[in-house]
This record gives sequence, C-alpha cells and structure tokens, in this order.
Amino acid sequence: MARIPRTGLTGRMTEHPILVTGGTGKSGSRVVSQLKNKGVRVRVGSRSGEPPFDWTDRSTWDAALEGVERVYVIPFDGELLTRPFVRRCEEVGVKRVVLLSGRGVDVAGYAGENSAAGKTHIDGEDAVRTCRLEWTIVRPAWFAQNFSEGFFLDAVRSGELRLPAGDGAASFVDAEDIAAVAVAALTENGHAGRIYELSGPRAVTLAEAAATISQATGRTVRYVPMLPEDFIAELVAEGWPQADAEDYADAVSPIRRGMDSHISSGVQQALGRPPRDFSDFVRIAAAAGGWPS
Ligand SMILES: NC(=O)c1ccc[n+]([C@@H]2O[C@H](COP(=O)([O-])OP(=O)(O)OC[C@H]3O[C@@H](n4cnc5c(N)ncnc54)[C@H](OP(=O)(O)O)[C@@H]3O)[C@@H](O)[C@H]2O)c1
Repeated sequence: MARIPRTGLTGRMTEHPILVTGGTGKSGSRVVSQLKNKGVRVRVGSRSGEPPFDWTDRSTWDAALEGVERVYVIPFDGELLTRPFVRRCEEVGVKRVVLLSGRGVDVAGYAGENSAAGKTHIDGEDAVRTCRLEWTIVRPAWFAQNFSEGFFLDAVRSGELRLPAGDGAASFVDAEDIAAVAVAALTENGHAGRIYELSGPRAVTLAEAAATISQATGRTVRYVPMLPEDFIAELVAEGWPQADAEDYADAVSPIRRGMDSHISSGVQQALGRPPRDFSDFVRIAAAAGGWPS
C-alpha cells in the first residue's frame, strides 16, 4: 500500500519541546531518540525527568506541559488518568496528542473484564477521540522488546520462558517501528484522526521466539507452556500479589486463544514501508548485548 505524501517538520516545532511521557520506557525512549535525531526539542516525561513528571501527582503535570504543543502519551495502566491529563493539555494550549493504546481495545473478549491495561486504554482512547486537539492513536501488538527489556526478560535470562500461552503465536512489533509511527504522527501532517493498528510482519510462537533468541545468543532458552492456574500459583509463590498475577495471565491469554496472531498494516500505512521482522529485532538486540548474563 502506498503511503499518502505528508509534509515534514514545521518551524514552530523546533521552538516548542515535544513532551514524551514514558520517555524512559520501551517505545518512549525510542521516540525521544528519533525526535532528537530529527533536531526536535524533546522533554522526557518521567519521574526522573527534568522537571519530574509523575502520573500520580497532578502537581507535576503543568511544569511538564510548560510551552509544549505536542505530546506523546503513554498511559499509566490501572488508573483512568489519560482523560484528566488530556483535559489539562487542552486547557494549557497543547495542540496535538499521540496516544499509545493497545491491540484489542475494540475487540469483545480480547481482554478480561478486570484488565488494568484494558480499562485504561478504553477510557483513554475515548478521552482522546472526543477531545478538541489533533489526535492520533497507535494500537500496538505485543512489543518484541518485552523479550529484551520488559516482561519476559528475566525468563529469557533464566533459560525458561514459562507462560500460559499454549501453542499460540503473536505478531510481535518492534518498538522502533512503534516509535517511528509515533514520531511521524507527532511531526508530520496527515495523521490526525487516524488509528494505527501495529504489528510485525508475521506471527511468531513463543517456542519460535525462544529458539530464535537461543540461536542468536548461543544460550539455551526454551518455552514452557503452562496452565493459567499453575502460572498464577507460581507467581504468587514468588511473592506477586494475586491480582497482579491474574492480570499478567489475562494479558497473555489472547495469545493462547489465537487472538494475537493476525497481522496489522499500521506501520505500512503510516510509514510507507513494512515493519521489521522479529528475527531482525533479535539479531540487533543480541549484537547490542541485549541479553547479558
Ligand atoms: N509491552 C507491551 O507489549 C505492550 C503492548 C501493547 C500496549 N502496551 C501499552 O504500552 C504502555 C507502556 O507499557 P510498557 O509495559 O511497555 O512500559 P514502558 O513504556 O516500557 O515503561 C513504562 C514507562 O512509564 C513510566 N512510568 C511508570 N510509572 C510512572 C509514573 N508514576 N509517572 C510517570 N511515568 C511513569 C516509566 O518512567 P519512569 O520509571 O522513568 O518514571 C516508563 O517510562 C502501557 O499502557 C501498555 O498497556 C504495551
């Protein structure tokens, strides 16, 4: 699919910093780097940022938004804070917001009723779609970087990826691609009112993911499928709160139920190029020392 031609950076953007909430996380840190590479001023929204930004402390919001016209919003899962934050953005003169959401927000039965991320994303998307700002929403599949920087990293290090995912597959998307789409939506015209569903170019089973990482790193990583109840009991025995363990199992369940293997075309639509393959992510992460002992 051809990409619609879009105009590039505007002069005003070099004057006004773009606020990147979650700017130290998997997609946010890459949005920060890619914006800086374009010569755009960036403010990192993080509890360790300057000024600090804390979702749970509204007294920090205004300083983070000072002089800002464009914001990348990575929500705070489990709380309904995107709505008041977007409202504050309207009040202080922000003009454009790009929201990171999640796959399945609009699919009945994708997430469980009590899913912390699900509730946050459904309310956050509604707040953004009904606000007065220019908006774009990105809905990514599971991030490939969960294996190197996120939920699955400890398991990969231990050599056993123990998950209740059955023999299901996910079309993991590279956080570099998520960031590239967000940067396009933040810096170009032509993305307003769009919802980009993002995935990688193919579905990868957990067993295939483990094998690819094994091959690239030379260390043995194997996938161990677990029953959801055993997975939850194991996490609780490790000290996890029951509700968090259930939430984790719930987040993985769409993979087991075959709801995460489809391919989404948002990277191609927004950037005019295909998404990066999972094996490229593994090769690059391994070369960068992504899985130290
Ligand atoms: N990971 C996936 O596969 C995936 C897939 C689809 C959607 N999502 C969505 O992506 C979003 C990010 O999730 P993630 O797990 O990938 O995390 P992440 O973006 O890698 O990291 C979380 C970020 O949130 C910031 N943060 C945490 N607590 C904060 C607070 N109280 N105030 C301000 N910032 C805070 C952290 O910054 P500091 O610690 O520096 O403050 C960090 O930058 C979530 O909404 C999730 O539902 C994730």
